[in-house]
Amino acid sequence: MNYYIGLDLGTSGVKAVIFDKYGNEINSFYREYDIISNNPNEAEEDPNIWLSKTLEIIEEIKKLDIKKDIKSMGISGQMHGLVLLDENDNVLRNAIIWCDNRTKNETEYLSNTLGDDYIMNITGNIPVSAFTITKLLWVKKNEPNIYKKIKKVLLPKDYLSYMLTNTFYTEYSDASGMGILDIEKLEYSKELLDKLDIDINLFPKLIKSTDIRGNLKKEFDLNINLVGGAGDQAAGAVGSGVVNSDELSIVLGSSGVVYSPLDKIKKNKNVQIFSTCEYKTYHIMGVTNGCGTSLKWLKHNIFKKDYDEMMDLASNSNGVESGLYYLPYIMGERTPILDNDAKGIFIGLKNTTNDGDMIRSVLEGIGFSIKDCFNLIDVKKNSVSISGGGAKSELFRTIIASMINKEVKRIKSDEAPSLGAAILAMVGNKEYKNINAACKKIIKIKDVTKPNKKLVKLYDEKYHIYKKIYLSNKDLFKEI
Ligand code: XUL
Repeated sequence: MNYYIGLDLGTSGVKAVIFDKYGNEINSFYREYDIISNNPNEAEEDPNIWLSKTLEIIEEIKKLDIKKDIKSMGISGQMHGLVLLDENDNVLRNAIIWCDNRTKNETEYLSNTLGDDYIMNITGNIPVSAFTITKLLWVKKNEPNIYKKIKKVLLPKDYLSYMLTNTFYTEYSDASGMGILDIEKLEYSKELLDKLDIDINLFPKLIKSTDIRGNLKKEFDLNINLVGGAGDQAAGAVGSGVVNSDELSIVLGSSGVVYSPLDKIKKNKNVQIFSTCEYKTYHIMGVTNGCGTSLKWLKHNIFKKDYDEMMDLASNSNGVESGLYYLPYIMGERTPILDNDAKGIFIGLKNTTNDGDMIRSVLEGIGFSIKDCFNLIDVKKNSVSISGGGAKSELFRTIIASMINKEVKRIKSDEAPSLGAAILAMVGNKEYKNINAACKKIIKIKDVTKPNKKLVKLYDEKYHIYKKIYLSNKDLFKEI
């Protein structure tokens, strides 16, 4: 039997899951790390730590009896982050990651000087501060001494891949989130980079998600190749079997994402359009920055309890009925408001508000934000799948199902991005003839969560209040 590894370089940790060719989980390894925020608005991680944690996992894999039967590895990773290397491949500074919020000026510069329409025409998206290019422009302006030493610009998972295989590649799904890829031609826009005075040669060569990058370096003593892989959302969609345009995936990870493949490219200023794992096919995506990040903040700073206990407390609360609302904008927000200045809010605190109400309001605030994304995604929505750490909670799944008034399906594996990455490795190594065929064989439904009628009505009635809280505070956010 051949085995495949799905390596997922997430925001909170790196995970490697070993699957057999039927998608059964054989082994799983995880190492955690933290976001570094030296200043409010900033979110960085140390690529050397990503690497050292991954190497620890590789040492574990080397101890397994099945190691000789592991054929290939696929990689998925947090999107948009900026990793900079010098001429000796040393990391020049911490990676500035997707939810970093410092690049308001650079984003406005792109929007106002080059123009939203111009950028959208080329890249499929208007400038968004999460995108890699705004981070690179920030370094260019604020850290010129670092900028002049840059020899390679990499996305997080492509940095790791470079360190593991010594091959300098990215693939289309992640590269389309850099803000410099011509979305239709699927090549870097030289015209755009020239206008920004950025050297096109700094960026890795583009390959497909199922193309083989190369073998792991000899020093790892594992005869395994690594395929292109994908950004976490595109990989997670494959790992959830969401590959057709009437299917939609909701991911409750560090970010909250609503994702659907498209029949044909449709540019839309309110949401993002990126490449999927299939060459020249696209997906639409809405992202809320403060999903798992809000829950993690609540757990570590306020409640200091584990997630199961927090969910139990929340299930005893009446939620918005108790009059408490939360805006999940602790890291600014992407869809739909695209506002770096937005902040988190609890509003409606009373002397009767308890701990469960606060936790539940966070779940519901995230849920409202997912509803915002869902409403903007203009595709047939016959089937909705749900995944990510948050989907392990039945309460959270019920809140989401009720917010969008649709059944949500959970697949058997809890590790959609890792499974998706492993499927890409299987297809790249001809275990299956294409991604669709692999998904048909591998993806199995674990359970279905139905909307709760009472909650559907409640969330429908209260949605306007959630919207009003942002609108009433929008100006104030700029001052605080
Ligand atoms: C997608 C996005 C996040 C990160 C981290 O655009 O920013 O989903 O990939 O998960």
